Amino acid sequence: MNNVTGKAVVSEDYLKSRLYLVDELRDFARKTSVVIEAPRRFGKTSVIKEFKRQEEAKSEEEREFNVLFLELEGEETLHAFCFKLFKELLSLYHVRRQFDKITDLLGNAWNAFALRIPKLKIPEFEVELREKTRDMDFTAWKEKLTPLIDGLNSFDMRTVIAFDEFPDMLLNFKNRAREQKDFTTLVDRLTAWLRALRQNQTGGSKYQFVFCGSVNMRKTLEEIGLGKRMNDIESLIIPNMKAEDAELLINSLMKEYALEIAPEGVSFMVSKITNGSPYYGQILFKALRDSRERMLSLEMLKARYDEMLRGGNHDLNHYHTRLKKYLGSVERDCSEIILKHLCFEPLHEKKLFDNHVSELCGYEVFQSVVNRLVYEGYIMRDIANNGALTFVAPLLKDWWSYKVGVR
Ligand SMILES: Nc1ncnc2c1ncn2[C@@H]1O[C@H](COP(=O)(O)OP(=O)(O)OP(=O)(O)O)[C@@H](O)[C@H]1O
Ligand SMILES: [Mg+2]
Repeated sequence: MNNVTGKAVVSEDYLKSRLYLVDELRDFARKTSVVIEAPRRFGKTSVIKEFKRQEEAKSEEEREFNVLFLELEGEETLHAFCFKLFKELLSLYHVRRQFDKITDLLGNAWNAFALRIPKLKIPEFEVELREKTRDMDFTAWKEKLTPLIDGLNSFDMRTVIAFDEFPDMLLNFKNRAREQKDFTTLVDRLTAWLRALRQNQTGGSKYQFVFCGSVNMRKTLEEIGLGKRMNDIESLIIPNMKAEDAELLINSLMKEYALEIAPEGVSFMVSKITNGSPYYGQILFKALRDSRERMLSLEMLKARYDEMLRGGNHDLNHYHTRLKKYLGSVERDCSEIILKHLCFEPLHEKKLFDNHVSELCGYEVFQSVVNRLVYEGYIMRDIANNGALTFVAPLLKDWWSYKVGVR
């Protein structure tokens, strides 16, 4: 297992004790569309990518799914979304040798183009496709896309269309819209269409959608009155790491890099990353690799740990960068107060607000910041402690404590 910090992981790099999540996704995808829910860096993209990899590694007879993966974070318009989906669908028809279908489905005006698709190289294909679709509005797009998606019903295999960072794309729409109502209309039209596609399937469930993104998708839709659009979709929750996961992660990495860490050192690491995502374990391990020591006692390990957190030269920094980028100034102040107080002890929302935040902003703003911090992967509501807010894992708390001078 390689030490990967940041990119989605697949195959040997995927923590074995979490492979069951891929099986759960596969089970869901046989019957229903799914939203993968988890904070940032918990491994959402990895679940989809590992699912795709596993399916593609199977023999043609064993294979059950075609998986289309659409990364949407940078997509700013509905047109761009439709273009990406169209391109992926055409490639799927191409790969599955379903050409005659394309010509039928797209209509006469597209015949000449459809016939040439197999001969086109990808860059040429994209240029031509862009040219041909440049002036299409959403109604025109739906006319082209709907039959291609319906047509998946006639494929031997099931199809999964995965939309990674879907809510981020919706936020991009929001930032570009002139008015809130333009944004709402756009999301309304898109989600109504996707829902109709899910529900109009005749003859079983041959295709499903998987939505995924670190911002809470259900909340995003609820806020604009479209919460019901998702009520036919199941959730796949990616849980925090248990101590056993954390231990397996550290041991697998130690083996791969031939590092010897004293058993108390391993326990120390496990205690710092348990309840977090595997990402924290990967970051911590990377700091040890960077120190280039082969054997680490508990004392050395603690020293490296402190050095990593104090030095600030580690991948946790992007957590802070994101707060600065996405929160307005009052919200940012509010987030810093929340995080600072949680460095001392877990706190219940109401108490935290009454004692430390109420002079800065109203309860609604406070709550939205709490939710954002949850989805950014900083804090969680601890069910074992009556839902008190607490840092996701000690590693993050220690880092933040150094940062704000609490430690
Ligand atoms: N199953 C896993 N096994 C090992 N490492 C993992 C696993 N899942 C996540 N990670 C670690 O977390 C990092 C982020 O994974 P991934 O990109 O899949 O998460 P994500 O939830 O999609 O993140 P984002 O919210 O940024 O989109 C990986 O680079 C790796 O360090
Ligand atoms: Mg991701």
